[in-house]
Amino acid sequence: MDELTNTAPLVDPACWLPFTANRAFLQQPRLLNRAQGMHYWTPDGRPVLDGTAGLWCVNAGHCRPEISATIARQAAEMDFAPTFEMGHPLVFSLAKRLIQWMPPTLSHVFFTNSGSESADTALKIARACHFNRGEPKRTLFIGREKAYHGVGFGGLSVGGLPRNKEAFLRKPSIACAVSPMSSTSATSA
Ligand SMILES: Cc1ncc(COP(=O)(O)O)c(C=O)c1O
Repeated sequence: MDELTNTAPLVDPACWLPFTANRAFLQQPRLLNRAQGMHYWTPDGRPVLDGTAGLWCVNAGHCRPEISATIARQAAEMDFAPTFEMGHPLVFSLAKRLIQWMPPTLSHVFFTNSGSESADTALKIARACHFNRGEPKRTLFIGREKAYHGVGFGGLSVGGLPRNKEAFLRKPSIACAVSPMSSTSATSA
């Protein structure tokens, strides 16, 4: 990036970015504020070729008018669809279409919000599957060296990036506190 362009006033140290050395970033922020087709643009108007299609999730190209118009139309009609014990008809019709494109062994769809959530969900489904078919001891996951599976604890556990493991998975240290409001604590009090 161009050292002559001072982008520091456009950022704020109160905002942390994931998977980023945030102090170093603040010294010389790399900012993008527009996209079209295969390119991003910096705030001062320079194009940057997007060789990774966003984070591998804008494969049809940036800001395609038909996609932007569909997003805008849906946001105006219903901006959020709750998924806990409720659904939107479009969710089911998309799932049905996806299954038609997949090999016969892939027969179900579970939508998530990100790759990290997908990784954690896949691990949970694998455990639940073995548990429910009577193999509760089948809990071992195998991860690969240098693998990246996102920022959740599950993805970190099967990931293979040593610095992530050192920072976040040194020791299992999760305790489950009982809320003073819960029926369990009322009974035991
Ligand atoms: C294999 C893999 N798993 C998980 C993730 C995390 O995805 P997200 O950044 O959407 O949480 C990525 C993202 O690069 C990935 O490549």
